[in-house]
Amino acid sequence: MSVAKKDYKKVTTNTLAEMKQNGKKISMLTAYDYTLAKIIDSAGIDVILVGDSASNVMAGHETTLPITLDQMIYHASSVVRGIDRALVVVDMPFGSYQGNSLEALSSAIKIMKESGGHSVKLEGGSEIIESIERILTAGIPVMGHLGLTPQSIYKFGTYTVRAKEEVEAEKLLADAKLLEEAGCFAIVLEKVPAQLAQKVAESISIPVIGIGAGAGVDGQVLVLHDMLGMTHEFNPRFLRRYLNLADDITGAVQSYVQDVKSADFPNEKEQY
Ligand code: KIV
Repeated sequence: MSVAKKDYKKVTTNTLAEMKQNGKKISMLTAYDYTLAKIIDSAGIDVILVGDSASNVMAGHETTLPITLDQMIYHASSVVRGIDRALVVVDMPFGSYQGNSLEALSSAIKIMKESGGHSVKLEGGSEIIESIERILTAGIPVMGHLGLTPQSIYKFGTYTVRAKEEVEAEKLLADAKLLEEAGCFAIVLEKVPAQLAQKVAESISIPVIGIGAGAGVDGQVLVLHDMLGMTHEFNPRFLRRYLNLADDITGAVQSYVQDVKSADFPNEKEQY
């Protein structure tokens, strides 16, 4: 069942703040193209993240590092054309904000101007706080991202759970407070212990949206292609698959190939 046009109000950063205040959970999924964005928007998703996971899912790269600012803008503008209701968050790609805060601001402005997205997301805490503050001065809403931050994969060395040790957990909590104070409207918390994630969500007033961060946070995000079962090789514990689309697509394509080869397709009704 899709959301009837008259029944919805556009989701804004204020909507998300109210949802946290009222204890209502926030739903977020990634999308990278017009067609799937249109489907998940009309299905009632609150937030669409144009994630730099497009680098993996759409382009087949091993990491999120290679995707460029222009490629992110291409994906984001396609998504924006497909949506009526959801808030669109656009990932700032690796290398577009770490240099200095002026560079970060000009990258964020380029994203907002050329994609029509509603906000940006950056990975990191105290190390990039100047960039976050500078972007916020331009009136651009910022979502933070802490815990496992895939743009730092070569520093971490592995995609395993982060902040299991006290020192890293304390820094994560301090970073979350810093992002809140700076004026971020929400934070994504990726792959951290559920207890720590709940503590973070209870310690700050902005929504915390988890991926592999347990149930004690204010919302959940998954990569769309993973939850639709299009990526068989990716099997983290936190992933719930709602479809097995890879198998369904394989079956459909096999049937089509067979129908073409046996001259069953097209039949008389399927021609002019
Ligand atoms: O790029 C992405 O898809 C993300 C999510 C995993 C949160 O950042």
